[in-house]
Amino acid sequence: MADVLGLGLTHFPLLGGLDEKMAILLRGTLKDPDIPAAEKDPANWPERMRREWGEDEGRSAAPAHRAELVKELARCREALDEFAPDALVVWGDDQYENFREEVVPPFCVLAYDDIEVHPFSLMNEYGNPNAWGRPDDMTFTLHGNRDWSRNLADRLITDGFDMAYSYRKREGAHFPHAIANTQMFLDYDNAGTEFPYPIIPITVNCYGQHAIARRGGLAKFAEIRDEQLDPIGPTPARCMELGRGVARALRGDGRRYAFVASSSWSHAFLTDKLWHIRPDTPADLELYDALLAGDRERWRRTTSQEIVDAGQHEMLNWFCLLGAMDELGMDLTWSTLVPTDVFNSNKCFAIFEERATTGAPA
Ligand SMILES: [Fe+2]
Repeated sequence: MADVLGLGLTHFPLLGGLDEKMAILLRGTLKDPDIPAAEKDPANWPERMRREWGEDEGRSAAPAHRAELVKELARCREALDEFAPDALVVWGDDQYENFREEVVPPFCVLAYDDIEVHPFSLMNEYGNPNAWGRPDDMTFTLHGNRDWSRNLADRLITDGFDMAYSYRKREGAHFPHAIANTQMFLDYDNAGTEFPYPIIPITVNCYGQHAIARRGGLAKFAEIRDEQLDPIGPTPARCMELGRGVARALRGDGRRYAFVASSSWSHAFLTDKLWHIRPDTPADLELYDALLAGDRERWRRTTSQEIVDAGQHEMLNWFCLLGAMDELGMDLTWSTLVPTDVFNSNKCFAIFEERATTGAPA
């Protein structure tokens, strides 16, 4: 029986907020005075984008986007429950959360035991009430296992992969929302409060040259003009190597793991060449086609510059997962890509399972 399941999903923060506010990033971007008026004019937008925007700046289209995401998340949860893991290993970006001016590692294992997390703190900052009508200061327990996480870091380092680790969340910063939202969305019906599985988080410096420059987030074009770029993050190929290393470190230790990539694909607010107005869907489709075709070499060849140009920074989490799947000989068994122009990012969902042995009885 397989002891690893692979999952890819989104941690789109605005899914945790109200439909009415799901398009706030685009609405805010359209107020940036340094974006040419023609780019902001819906008459010049692609057809799907005009349709989503409609007459009410995306408000009517939001419920359908939510319904689609919730449906695909439920499918991932079903696969997870069927597999019944001992723990999830989640690759998620750190967006100016633990990784700040003091130190920015390429990757970090969060070796925490159970920890109380405020899942709505980021959205509260944007004045966006949560989708569940829960108190703003609600917490849930994110189950962890310090020993398992510490052992993973130890094995990675022994194997030649210099892994950073953390024993304590940074004071005064949000818990990395890529990890918290993974729990919240995999347990969507309960806003994350009833999620039973422990999580071993591996945070990734997906934001690279924008990690400090843009504080892991969106910036106005006036700020970008003179920005001091940071050193780049780990390359896509290196992320795949990390995935391989994690698979080697955990394979055969007697536990069952779900390996999870947590992120949307191209983000509008990171795609400078499209004026932060919509994601780079052609770039996403190219990688999605390669994913479907099992062409992991196409993924491995991807450069850091291509990732940044396409606003695909957070996809580095998926490169980690793909490396692990490759190491373990696991295949994509189901996936879907939910494209959108108005709701910031395209969202991919995927399930990977152990490759069927040739000639095995059906
Ligand atoms: Fe993110």
